[in-house]
Amino acid sequence: MHLIATQVDDSLERMCEKLAAERERPQHAMDAYFYRSHLVYERELDHLVFKSWLYALHSSEIPEKGDYQLVDIGEDSIIVVRGDDGEIRAMHNICRHRGAQVCEAATGNKRTFVCPYHGWVYNLDGSLKAARETHVMPNFDTAVHGLKPVRCVEYMGLVFINCDPNAADFLGPLENIREPLGAYDLANAKVAHRQTYKIDANWKLVLENYLECYHCATSHRAYAKLHTFKDLHEKVAPIVEALLERSDDVTGVPGMSKQYTKIYRDAEGFGACVHTMRYGLYEGNVTGSRDGQPVAPLMGNIRDYDGGAGDYQMGPLTFMLNYPDHCVLYRFLPRSLTETDVELVWFVRGDAEEGKDYNREDVVWLWDHTTQEDEYIILRNNAGVNSRFFEPGPYHPEFEATLQKFVGWYLHHLEEASHA
Ligand code: FES
Ligand SMILES: [Fe+2]
Repeated sequence: MHLIATQVDDSLERMCEKLAAERERPQHAMDAYFYRSHLVYERELDHLVFKSWLYALHSSEIPEKGDYQLVDIGEDSIIVVRGDDGEIRAMHNICRHRGAQVCEAATGNKRTFVCPYHGWVYNLDGSLKAARETHVMPNFDTAVHGLKPVRCVEYMGLVFINCDPNAADFLGPLENIREPLGAYDLANAKVAHRQTYKIDANWKLVLENYLECYHCATSHRAYAKLHTFKDLHEKVAPIVEALLERSDDVTGVPGMSKQYTKIYRDAEGFGACVHTMRYGLYEGNVTGSRDGQPVAPLMGNIRDYDGGAGDYQMGPLTFMLNYPDHCVLYRFLPRSLTETDVELVWFVRGDAEEGKDYNREDVVWLWDHTTQEDEYIILRNNAGVNSRFFEPGPYHPEFEATLQKFVGWYLHHLEEASHA
């Protein structure tokens, strides 16, 4: 069954009432209104999503001049391209004449972007190269009709974009996770597999599912067998503490066990969340695979398996789960009020050869399986939340603490946007 979630009786006034009601009921799940209102969705895009740092791609995916990929967010499309000078840039995929999308295929290589409508031609840096017959327009200025730029930064091969020209600095905050993240040498890593899971639910339900592990024990048998994260800290403290004690020595990476968290309202700049922590796997397991055993060569400068996994957040919607032999990146993007793209990217060591050093199916299995399990429960969640009889219940104080940080940030900025 495909649900069409829509709040028909909607207005700015109603949004403000609903926000006020949330303040009266802290530490509880959000009212269904926030998952059903088009008014809310438009504000989310304008004031949250398009002002946040979002993962676009890994630099190895566009190695040559003219290589590009499109990133679709909501109904928008952004081109990320390697220019003639080798630099990676991002720009809106919207012609500066009458707005046709200049680039159609999701990925490819171009010398220039030629608009299919009236043939304006853009260089790889977005500048307008030629516009047919505009010599009869004496005031036409080529220089001010380039494709609109999108902010773009690269950190360890990970390319992030931000549609807000005044976006807060992101590279500075990211420096706080350099030691543990640097261990994987992501700049030279290889994308072993990449997959988009299209989920028919509001983006917040999909993200909220990722931000808590209360459901891990009940929904993810394979994951729960390996990761102590599914348990209360008091239950697994000895395992986690022993891991943190040995981690730097065993991996040979000073700072591997570092913990750093500034996310959502605590982030150094808007949409510049940064987090890292390391947690333990249950005894006998060394990586996130079907049987907990290695599936690829050790990454970067990691010398040995320490029995742990690294948890990362970069921006409000991008996360990584890093094991000594492979890394998994998660990115959430809204596509409409009721549709969300979840992008998973699996990285292995740059010089690892498929079929010889690793089997793609083995590397991908756990998180593909877990994501399918998540899709199932998210759709159940979506169905219940969209019922007129849904009444939000209390969050778990430990398991759903990160989720509450997101919700606090979300409601705060939505409230600000309601005055905008
Ligand atoms: S809309 Fe692109 S050239 Fe007219
Ligand atoms: Fe899950």
